[in-house]
Amino acid sequence: MNNAVKILYPLAAVTILVLLPLLTLLGPSAEFVFAVIIPCLALAAFFSGFIYRVVRWAQSPVPFNIPSVGGQEKSLPWIKDDKIESPGNNWAVTWRMFLEIFFFRSLFRNSRADLVAGQRLVYGGSRWLWLGGLAFHWSLFIIIFRHLRFFTEPVFPPATWLTNLDSLFQFSLATLFLTDFIILISLTYLFFRRVVSPQVKYISLASDYLALLLILGVVISGVLMRSIFKVDVDAVKRLAISMITFKPAVDSNIGLPFYIHLMLVSTLIAYFPFSKMMHAPGILFSPTRNMKNDSRAVRHINPWNHPVRVHTYEEYEDEFRKPMMAAGIPVEKKQ
Ligand code: HEM
Repeated sequence: MNNAVKILYPLAAVTILVLLPLLTLLGPSAEFVFAVIIPCLALAAFFSGFIYRVVRWAQSPVPFNIPSVGGQEKSLPWIKDDKIESPGNNWAVTWRMFLEIFFFRSLFRNSRADLVAGQRLVYGGSRWLWLGGLAFHWSLFIIIFRHLRFFTEPVFPPATWLTNLDSLFQFSLATLFLTDFIILISLTYLFFRRVVSPQVKYISLASDYLALLLILGVVISGVLMRSIFKVDVDAVKRLAISMITFKPAVDSNIGLPFYIHLMLVSTLIAYFPFSKMMHAPGILFSPTRNMKNDSRAVRHINPWNHPVRVHTYEEYEDEFRKPMMAAGIPVEKKQ
């Protein structure tokens, strides 16, 4: 697929998603569809797709010991082993996993190779992706956690603490949170990285741009709602609480920007289980990360091995000893 098309298709899809909620202007029934029916369908797609994929992963055979390692395995007592790069027990695996999930440790070790003056290959560290990825994921987590204020009454205290902390650096008149700025900057970097770098552009798919554009759409609509196109936040909270208590009720004064935000959020969560965003739960099921490297201490036997009838050398020699001796071929036992 042509590079421009790879970006234009997702862009067109997100534009349609932004325009669709204009239908809510038709009246309460249309509002009900966008406020209740679409989010419910999206949640159903999310949970069923998520469970389906996780169960499939959990059922996949992992017959071999294939942890990815980058250091000395535990062997003889006087050889120093690298507990993180080559985790030999469950604690070390858990620690490596923790660093990976919360701090993207393997991305920190990212390196790049450049041809200097067209002929000299130079290797160097490359930390921007690590920084951009970490900034994006942490702010997304904080933003979603802060949204608990809409779903709990009285508000879940940790959500209030985090909101207060996040607004400590509130900038000028715009009542935006620090995480709003960080997520916008990091998402812009993650998007342009796929447009500017020829290597990354080459391997990028339309689905890579779609995920980024959808999240950007959700964030931009949220930020606009908070700063310029204000909505009735109390009405949003009433809707959210009515939904989680299974008694959906929609106020007619919520406002179009909220429906745009919700439409994008619904699409994002419905698409999540079928997209590369499943890397979030996927890391826990990744055998290269969740297995310990103890292949020198423990014999790993493939549990799915079909029983094979073997013919040992001993049996072979017993069978052919006489002709072997006659031909002068050395044998282990004379008779
Ligand atoms: C993937 C899920 C979601 C993401 C990433 C997201 C993102 C954002 C962001 C970045 C903002 C800007 C202000 C802030 O940081 O709090 C925002 C605002 C807002 N979001 Fe979301 N949102 C999500 C889901 C939802 C849902 C499910 C609702 C429905 C209850 C919702 C309702 C709102 C409202 C009402 C605002 C305006 C807040 C205000 O004016 O104080 N969001 N959202």
